[in-house]
Amino acid sequence: MTIAHDIKTVLEFFDALGFERLPVTIKRKSTGTQVQTDNRKGATGLQSFKTSELKKAALEALREEIGDCLRCKLSKQRQTIVFGEGNPDADLMFIGEAPGREEDSQGRPFVGDAGKLLTRLIEKMGFVREEVYIGNIIKCRPPMNRDPEEDEVTTCLPFIARQIEIIAPTIIVSLGRISAHILINTKIPITKLRGRFSEYRGIPLMPTFHPAYLLRSPKDKWLVWEDVQKVLARLKEGKK
Ligand code: URA
Repeated sequence: MTIAHDIKTVLEFFDALGFERLPVTIKRKSTGTQVQTDNRKGATGLQSFKTSELKKAALEALREEIGDCLRCKLSKQRQTIVFGEGNPDADLMFIGEAPGREEDSQGRPFVGDAGKLLTRLIEKMGFVREEVYIGNIIKCRPPMNRDPEEDEVTTCLPFIARQIEIIAPTIIVSLGRISAHILINTKIPITKLRGRFSEYRGIPLMPTFHPAYLLRSPKDKWLVWEDVQKVLARLKEGKK
């Protein structure tokens, strides 16, 4: 591999994601080459490190593009934009609806009571939170946690779409009715959608209940557990 080849790969990557300029800030490190040991998605060593770094840079550039967003009326009452967080090269991506009060104040997704339940679910699945990516359809808290309105979804959806495109997860888990309805483009009730794989732009998507719903109806936790078993089985299949 030559440097020219590496540069070509980087340029092709950003071009494919629709960037018109290279959004990378060069940071000098005094510690020499860092090589990640992450072997997932078939990449090894330096190759995997490069993919992950490119995706991280692309996500940072997207965050910069969003800026101090005033594109919709949610900007008037929000405290913080909740961009999303996690592994830029995650196999598994969880997508909720919109930040709640705690997320709005901390600027991080799923950190309130529902978020703690989600974190426990992720850990029971055998991951740590930092290994997956967690985002929302909408990046600003709707007042009183009301459902996002159509114009707000239309404005914000392209950003989570770009995050999905950059991360290119193996599987998406959508959390709750709104996320499933928007990503699958359907109005079928979540009780009927959950537990069966659907698709978002060719990526398998498992709709399941929202953790906030499980706080109100803990008796349905086992259904979510069933849903994520299917996700784990599909992930394992992909690794054979
Ligand atoms: N509910 C969501 O849908 N997303 C969050 O980030 C928090 C609560």
